[in-house]
Amino acid sequence: MSLQALLSQLEIPVIVAPMFLVSNPELTIAACSEGIMGSFPAHGTRSREVFEDWLIRTRDGVQRLRDQGARPAPFAVNLVVHASNPRMEGDLELCIKYRVPVVLSSKGAPGEAVKRIHDYGGVVIHDVANQRHAEKALESGVDGVIAVAGGAGGHTGTINPFALMNEIRRIHSGIVVLAGGMTTGRDVLAAQAMGADLAYLGTRFIATRESDAAEGQKQMIVASKATDIFFSASIDGAPANWMTPSLIAAGVDLDVLRTTLPGKIISSHESKKRWKDIWTAGHGVGNIDDIPTTVELCRRLKAEYRAAKASFAGALAAE
Ligand SMILES: Cc1cc2nc3c(=O)[nH]c(=O)nc-3n(C[C@H](O)[C@H](O)[C@H](O)COP(=O)(O)O)c2cc1C
Repeated sequence: MSLQALLSQLEIPVIVAPMFLVSNPELTIAACSEGIMGSFPAHGTRSREVFEDWLIRTRDGVQRLRDQGARPAPFAVNLVVHASNPRMEGDLELCIKYRVPVVLSSKGAPGEAVKRIHDYGGVVIHDVANQRHAEKALESGVDGVIAVAGGAGGHTGTINPFALMNEIRRIHSGIVVLAGGMTTGRDVLAAQAMGADLAYLGTRFIATRESDAAEGQKQMIVASKATDIFFSASIDGAPANWMTPSLIAAGVDLDVLRTTLPGKIISSHESKKRWKDIWTAGHGVGNIDDIPTTVELCRRLKAEYRAAKASFAGALAAE
């Protein structure tokens, strides 16, 4: 199925972004049940066997919804296509075996994987942080790109979303998913106004009942503002946004972190683990006040999106 055809099955143009140690089949199926594309990262599972189990649970969960007469959104899986990922081949084989409808590829060049995914009828959307990344991904035949702007949770881009969208639109008229800092249905409409086809929301979904995030991280998100997010490439080697209170709790000296040269990683702190104890989130934290179920959150996003659309239509008509 073409990417356009898959996207036409969504109730609103939103993908729940894949998140390491946060996403799981329950969150994914709940989002799909509301007509919003859910996803999880292959490497978020401990082993190939667990990944296969997640694929079966998600496929069956979505199928069950169809059998009940619902029109669920298709689901997606994030695959790290960089040569440094030792699970790449095995995980790709499982995506092929279970005909994962949408593969969200990240890092490296999707190259050969794109052909194999297209062969079973899947589509590929590749994660990019600048125009050059987008150019390379499009050359390898991907169906669309995810423009990760500054302020996103996890490994982030650094470019302002307006600037990034405009640069990508100079070279690509096809599907663009915009990521970074969005938490509301109005934000989704704003992303479309900026030229994006879809919005990619991660951080907002950390604070849901189904998410696998530690309870402490969910509470920290509710209590945080954008100024509590610390950008650094020196925690795990890639540019990422970290939650300052979790850095402090792990004993990280912020002055040392601030002055560590790019390419250097600060020494690990006793038993504290990056991602597990040192938490990541995007600038959107300041607009997150609760920990609803995924279904409640999806319904809220849809209502906000429709209200924003109606209010804009009204404003334009009055001009
Ligand atoms: C806790 C967390 C874990 C993440 N893990 C992954 C991952 O495993 N793979 C991936 O492609 N992106 C990952 N991301 C990035 C998201 O997919 C997405 O780009 C980002 O969350 C969008 O920005 P937002 O958080 O401001 O909504 C992660 C983000 C967060 C917050």
